[in-house]
Amino acid sequence: MQKKIAILGSTGSIGTQTLDVVRANPAELEVVALAAGTSTDLMEKQIREFHPSVAAMYDDAAAADLRSRVSDLPVRILSGMDGLLEMASLEGYDTLVTAIVGMIGIRPTIAAIESGKDIALANKETLVCAGHIIMPLARERGVRILPVDSEHSAIFQSLQGGDHAALAGTESGVPTGISKSRISRVLLTASGGPFRGMTKIQLAEKQPEDALKHPNWNMGRKITIDSATLVNKGLEVMEAGWLFDVPLDRITVLVHPQSILHSAVEFVDGAVIGQMGTPDMKLPIEYALFYPDRRPMDTPKLDLFAVQSLTFERPDPETFEGLALALRAGKEGGSMPTVFNAANELAVADFLDHRIGFLQIYERIRRSMERHKKIENPTVSQILAAEEEVKSLWQA
Ligand SMILES: NC(=O)c1ccc[n+]([C@@H]2O[C@H](COP(=O)([O-])OP(=O)(O)OC[C@H]3O[C@@H](n4cnc5c(N)ncnc54)[C@H](OP(=O)(O)O)[C@@H]3O)[C@@H](O)[C@H]2O)c1
Repeated sequence: MQKKIAILGSTGSIGTQTLDVVRANPAELEVVALAAGTSTDLMEKQIREFHPSVAAMYDDAAAADLRSRVSDLPVRILSGMDGLLEMASLEGYDTLVTAIVGMIGIRPTIAAIESGKDIALANKETLVCAGHIIMPLARERGVRILPVDSEHSAIFQSLQGGDHAALAGTESGVPTGISKSRISRVLLTASGGPFRGMTKIQLAEKQPEDALKHPNWNMGRKITIDSATLVNKGLEVMEAGWLFDVPLDRITVLVHPQSILHSAVEFVDGAVIGQMGTPDMKLPIEYALFYPDRRPMDTPKLDLFAVQSLTFERPDPETFEGLALALRAGKEGGSMPTVFNAANELAVADFLDHRIGFLQIYERIRRSMERHKKIENPTVSQILAAEEEVKSLWQA
């Protein structure tokens, strides 16, 4: 049966690769709705190629422009946060791919879950800030949160080999149904980013152009900077904690510069099951969309003879403070991960605009966390208020 999907953030790195997967599987996948921020040129092309019935632009002027450009087509153009919420809760589709960047994804993701849609989740910031709301809601509504992030997809795939009995019975919420007592550790791999092995003195000199040169992955700008600071790995530790219901101290980060082992699980008997492959996001996207099936993919296969060796190092959280600060925020919980994330989102935007230096990203996160009075179990409004609190600290 053809699966109907909607993509929140269709014009970005994950969004366009999701559309590559649709292009390669036209009989199996149909695009019903698309959403983006401001990229009208690309959105118009996507509408003309994939014929969604709805498209939403967050930016009102972009939506007005798009509406006039595609007035010859039977597509409804929505705008603003209301448009994203309406798009996410549309009738008649199965899975929302959350390929939007940042915690702006929280409300549309919740709207999609409330209307019974499965989530193929790339937008980790949403889970970091609101995992305590999203995971119970998904369980209550009987929808699945299927990971798209390559590490989390690898963990998910590794868990398939660990507990067939538990897998058979579980359809909702935490995707695997794995019996937690059989997991001893999650091994979360990190490439180390472009500045691996450098000192703080070297990091202080780094410009956005240096940080945007990721050695293994071609991704959006924000996640590429997060990879250079190791903030991304910290966000991923918190994401894994929510997705797989694993305490953060049972998640070990391994720096693995080749990005071939995408992550692994160590079971109580000492068996380590991992997933390897070339660094290509289409595999985890496809796995999330077709789970539990696997489809043939027309991409170069992993050649272990060419790779020759896989290496693993301990991360350096004293230099790359982003990881240490994330773990502190994750362990404190409540509204602290939101403050960590919001401070990082603002600092990365300022770094990309050459307004602050690389190390000031850490300083801004640290100072925002020090000033914040934590709220336990924040509601969505309290999460958004915590974001505003951070904005008021740093926006002149
Ligand atoms: N890229 C990867 O390989 C990768 C891997 C794992 C996880 N992820 C995660 O996936 C998410 C997306 O990353 P990405 O690299 O694909 O980002 P990206 O290339 O920057 O794309 C972001 C997408 O979000 C849209 N967007 C931004 N602000 C919006 C708003 N206010 N309303 C509606 N749409 C908005 C953008 O639209 P416009 O083009 O109009 O601005 C674009 O379509 C992030 O959470 C990231 O951590 C990415």
